[in-house]
Amino acid sequence: MKRTVLRAVGVAGAMALGLGLASCASDGGSEGSGGEAAAEDIRVGVAMPTETSERWIADGDAVESQLEEAGYEVDLQFANDDIPTQQQQIEQMITNGADILIVASIDGTALASQLESAADKGIPIIAYDRLINGTEAVDFYVTFDNYQVGVQQAQSLLRGLGYLDENYEDTGLDEEKIIEVFAGSPDDNNTGFFFGGAMDTLAPYLEDGRLTIGSGQDELDQVATLRWDQATAQKRMEDLLTSTYGGGSGQLDGVLSPYDGISRGIITALQNAGYGDTIEDGLPVVSGQDAEIASVSMIDRGVQYATIFKDTRKLATQAVDAASSYASGEEPEANDTDTYDNGTKVVPSFLLESDIVTADDIQELLIDTDYWTEDEIAAGVAE
Ligand code: BGC
Repeated sequence: MKRTVLRAVGVAGAMALGLGLASCASDGGSEGSGGEAAAEDIRVGVAMPTETSERWIADGDAVESQLEEAGYEVDLQFANDDIPTQQQQIEQMITNGADILIVASIDGTALASQLESAADKGIPIIAYDRLINGTEAVDFYVTFDNYQVGVQQAQSLLRGLGYLDENYEDTGLDEEKIIEVFAGSPDDNNTGFFFGGAMDTLAPYLEDGRLTIGSGQDELDQVATLRWDQATAQKRMEDLLTSTYGGGSGQLDGVLSPYDGISRGIITALQNAGYGDTIEDGLPVVSGQDAEIASVSMIDRGVQYATIFKDTRKLATQAVDAASSYASGEEPEANDTDTYDNGTKVVPSFLLESDIVTADDIQELLIDTDYWTEDEIAAGVAE
């Protein structure tokens, strides 16, 4: 398969990219002279972390279908949030002749040896949504502006609590409110960006006393949720209710949540403790991320307050564009070359923008853009 990439990119491009020159020489370069590669000769390995979250299923589907539309052969794998499974899947992709890899890691530091062996074979590696850390073996990163996602999560919480209006401007509200904060998986590089953006945005309110974190737990290692797991989040919320809120009788106004699955775990704990079924009934305001259908439906019914919409179709398009650039011997176009230092190098990145979705925004951002249908939102499940 290496020869087919060389056909695609030409030897000069391959040299520029380090694409499999050794294999070209050992293959005699027989297919290398002048012809344009057909995309179907190029195999793209796509490693996704899990199918337990809709967003990754949507990402996998979108990347696969857009690559196939462009004519590439696709090897798409999901790893059940299990690191050894993802390592094996990537090894298998390389063995099966992947020419380009697109990788959404489970643990950003756990893939170095697999990816270094891919890089040695000249395979370009595109980190998808989550940065791969601690290795030279990552060429490009497609993602959203993750710090800004965190800012938006906090803004949505502040709006739900009444401090910001629908334009996210200060309302002048001077009440004191109690919150808790949750963060994502500590091994996901995005977690620190989301949490940093959110806490920087909440800082002025925490400093002047309008907001208090009831438990006092505000350090990332105290509030992180391994593997973004819903049940883990529910358990931590239950423990907090017991330790700090009299089992559910204490004042709690809002919870910062970094992901819809975590939000649903938190909401279940709050409902079980008797805070009410909806925000109108007294349920604390909870933020989210990913516009998962179960959560969008809950937002529509006044149960979860907000989510952050990251259009997976647009991210898939960026990944496919990056893959196509490599396939034609070019470097993909970055719009950020400063932010994402993986500990070994600053990885050139393309960042997309995200949007806050409250009940007011569902129609425009999710239905009008054909992300979810009205029926899906009513049913709370994807068709
Ligand atoms: C993604 C989020 C997602 C989370 C849990 C993060 O890396 O950026 O969109 O909510 O993983 O799957």
